[in-house]
Amino acid sequence: MPTRRSFLAGALGAPAVLHGRRYTAAEIQRLIERGHVRGKISKDDLPTPALLLDLDAFEANVRRMAEHLRRHGLAFRPHGKTHKCGEIARRLIRAGAVGCCAAKISEAEAFARDGIRGLLITTPVVGRHKIERAVALARRCPDTIFCVDHPQNARDLDAAAGAARVRLNVAVDLYVGRRTGVMPGEPALKLAELIMSLRNLRLAGIQAYAGHASHVVGFEKRREASRAAMEQAAATRQLFESKGIPCPLLSGGSTGTYNIDVEIPGITELQPGSFIFMDVDYNRIGGRDGDFYGDFKNSLTVLTTVISKPAADTAIVDAGLKAFSTDKPFPPECRARPGITYSFAGDEHGRLSLAGEARSIELGDRLEFVIPHCDPTVNLYDRIYCLRGEAVEDCWRITARGMSQ
Ligand SMILES: Cc1ncc(COP(=O)(O)O)c(C=O)c1O
Repeated sequence: MPTRRSFLAGALGAPAVLHGRRYTAAEIQRLIERGHVRGKISKDDLPTPALLLDLDAFEANVRRMAEHLRRHGLAFRPHGKTHKCGEIARRLIRAGAVGCCAAKISEAEAFARDGIRGLLITTPVVGRHKIERAVALARRCPDTIFCVDHPQNARDLDAAAGAARVRLNVAVDLYVGRRTGVMPGEPALKLAELIMSLRNLRLAGIQAYAGHASHVVGFEKRREASRAAMEQAAATRQLFESKGIPCPLLSGGSTGTYNIDVEIPGITELQPGSFIFMDVDYNRIGGRDGDFYGDFKNSLTVLTTVISKPAADTAIVDAGLKAFSTDKPFPPECRARPGITYSFAGDEHGRLSLAGEARSIELGDRLEFVIPHCDPTVNLYDRIYCLRGEAVEDCWRITARGMSQ
């Protein structure tokens, strides 16, 4: 005789079975919220759209980058803007990272709450309220480094730090072709001299992010672009030191240039971000030996469900712009199922054009997509489900989600 529960389960589609135990949707939700997922649920149980992390691929990526930088004698301060997740920052530090970069003050505050130290805020902190927060953060986490590219900002930081009786570590943010930063050479030297003269600031060194180089397609072209940028940074570091200004730090680099920037003497640390996850954007830039950039594995996907099948060659999934955030001209790519082409069909939906064997896709099928651009997509999710094969091994909060202030 079926119980009411088993009857409902059958009527609504069988609930998950792992290790002989069936869970309802409500039970699964509770397990997820408590983070008690190991040994209990599998990929098939997850409500979609869901952000998935293939732990084997993620761990291989972390190992590869950490070993590469160790071999070249460079420090490793991966950028937390990619993952926004305290647990990932902790794992990177366990793998040898000296800390974690943060794009903004609110992101750094979230990492600090998660116990992460060695923070480098890669965007200048400007404006009275943000500077107040910077000073408060420096009191809690004295090794935090703030980037400065303007004399007024240096003076404002100094005044706030003096009033609060703290000393702030600052790096001169150098313009090497992307966005913020003081010009290399003499303008940077002037700013460094000003910083040295201010009692409440301590010069940590230079930050130079050549983001325009990171996605240049073709290894040799990318090498040329990154070298042109980063050699200016190395020369500026030398200039500082020739004037008696100690400059222990020169931080920069990215996933696309990690094996280029190590060739430039004077760079002391790299701050790559995307290598832990990878995305469609990075796959296509080409590696040292081919058109596919396979140095790091795609560990991040979005799991979707087919919710409509209007025609044999068309299916609709439950994941649109609110599941994949991208500024790129290419769509999500279906993993392990050939013949599927995704196009955005609004905020909540994606349209799939189906060819060949993919025409057999049915309502309720679950499909995984590699993400066009990892950073802004991660920012759409509260948690990331960590898979070992099909089993959900862990579930990590994206603790700095939405922290863009
Ligand atoms: C300042 C800074 N450093 C490092 C990175 C990491 O770059 P990637 O994710 O390409 O490795 C970024 C990414 O945008 C960045 O803004």
